[in-house]
Amino acid sequence: MNNFEFKNPTKIIFGKDTIEKVNQEIPENAKVLLLYGGGSIKKNGIYEQVKTALADVDVTEFGGIPANPEYATLIKALKVIKDEKITFLLAVGGGSVIDGTKFLSAAAVYDGDTPWDILTENVRTEKGMPFGTVLTLPATGSEMNSGAVITRAETKEKLAMGGPGLFPEFSILDPQVITSIPKRQLANGLTDAFTHVLEQYMTYPIGALLQDRFAESILQTLIEVAPTVLKDPTDYKAASNFMWSCTMALNGLIQKGVPTDWAVHAMGHELTALFGIDHARTLAVIAPSHYKFNFESKKEKLAQYAERVWKITEGSTDDKAYEAIVKTEAFFRELGIDTKLSEYTKDYEGTAEKISERFINRGWTKLGEHKSLTPENVEKIVKMAY
Ligand code: NZQ
Ligand code: ZN
Repeated sequence: MNNFEFKNPTKIIFGKDTIEKVNQEIPENAKVLLLYGGGSIKKNGIYEQVKTALADVDVTEFGGIPANPEYATLIKALKVIKDEKITFLLAVGGGSVIDGTKFLSAAAVYDGDTPWDILTENVRTEKGMPFGTVLTLPATGSEMNSGAVITRAETKEKLAMGGPGLFPEFSILDPQVITSIPKRQLANGLTDAFTHVLEQYMTYPIGALLQDRFAESILQTLIEVAPTVLKDPTDYKAASNFMWSCTMALNGLIQKGVPTDWAVHAMGHELTALFGIDHARTLAVIAPSHYKFNFESKKEKLAQYAERVWKITEGSTDDKAYEAIVKTEAFFRELGIDTKLSEYTKDYEGTAEKISERFINRGWTKLGEHKSLTPENVEKIVKMAY
C-alpha cells in the first residue's frame, strides 16, 4: 500500500426528512446565496423545504445553473455575490449546481483578473467562501469532495478544478429526493458512481486489501440496488443505499494508498464538451474500450473484479478479465445507457484526433496509473469507442 494522508472535513447529515436541519448549519448572521439549477426543486418540493427551514435567514437566490455548469452563468452569480456582500453559499441540486457553487466559492476569493484562469492555470483553492449543499441527485460525490468540473460553451471546454478549501462545510443527503428524478438521470447516477469506483480500482494490485474490498462492496451495492432504484425510486432501502454508495465512491476514501487512473473521465469530459452528451454516458462509451486497450496492464485487477463482483470463477486470468469488461458494458446497457459514440451522434468522425490534439496542447501526454497513456493511445481508445 502507498503512503497517504486523509482528511475529509465535510459533515454529512443523512436520512429521511433531514432537509429541515439546514438552518442549524448556516453560520449566524450569514448572508446566504441559495443556488439552484433549472427549476426541478420548485416542482418536487425541495425548494419549499429549504425555504421553510431558512425562514429566519437572510437569503438571496440565484437559479438557472444548467447541467454541465456554464462559466458565463456563474459569472453572473459571482456579480450577485459581490453586489449583495454574500458570506455563505448554499447549493441545492446535483453535481452541476454543487460544482458551480465550488467554482463560485473559489472565484469569490480569487484576486486575479479572469476567474477562468482558476481552471486553465490549475489554481488550487486553499480557502474558499464557505458553502454547504442539499443534494438532490446521487451521482458525482461532489457533496463530499473538493473537486468541480466547469464548462465554457464559448470554447467548448470542460475543465476540472479543486483544492482543500473546496470541501462543503456540510451536505444534507435525504434519499427521498430521488423519487422525482427522471429514469435517465437515475441511470446516469448509477453509471457515474460505478465508474468513479473503477477509476480508483481498475489499475494494478498494490496490496491494499481493505481499499479493494471497499471498492468492490460499492460496486456490488450499486449492482444490487440498480434495478429497484430504476423501477421504484420510492423504495427507501434502495434509495438510501444508492445515495450513500455514490457519496462513498468519490469522497477520497477508496483512493487512499492506491494508484488511480482517471483517464476515462479525461476522455469522457471531452465528449461532453464537444457533443453535450451527459457526463455518465460518456464514461460508459469510453470505459469498455479503455479497459480493452489497456488489457495487459489491468488484467489482474480486471480478473479480481470478475471473480469478486461478477462471480466469474471459470477460465484463465485473461478469460475472466475479458468477461469482466463484457459484463460491465452489459450492465450499462441494462441501465438503458448506450455504450458507443455513434449511438449519440452521427458526427463522430475526427473526434479521436480532435481529443488527442487537445490533450497535446494541454500537455496531457502521460495519463493513467502508469503515467504512460499517450495522446496517440487516447486517439486509438476513442476510435474503438465509435
Ligand atoms: O437543473 P435542475 O432543474 O435541478 O434539474 C437537474 C438536471 O436537469 C435534474 N435533477 C437534479 N435533481 C433532481 C432533478 N430532477 C428531478 N428531481 C431531482 N431531485 O437532473 C439533471 C442533471 O443534474 P446534474 O446536476 O447535471 O447531474 P449530476 O449530478 O449527474 O452532475 C453532473 C455534473 O457533475 C460533474 C459532471 O461533469 C457534470 O458536469 N462531475 C462532478 C464531479 C465532482 N465534482 O466530483 C465528478 C464527476 O465525475 C463529474 O465530472
Ligand atoms: Zn464522473
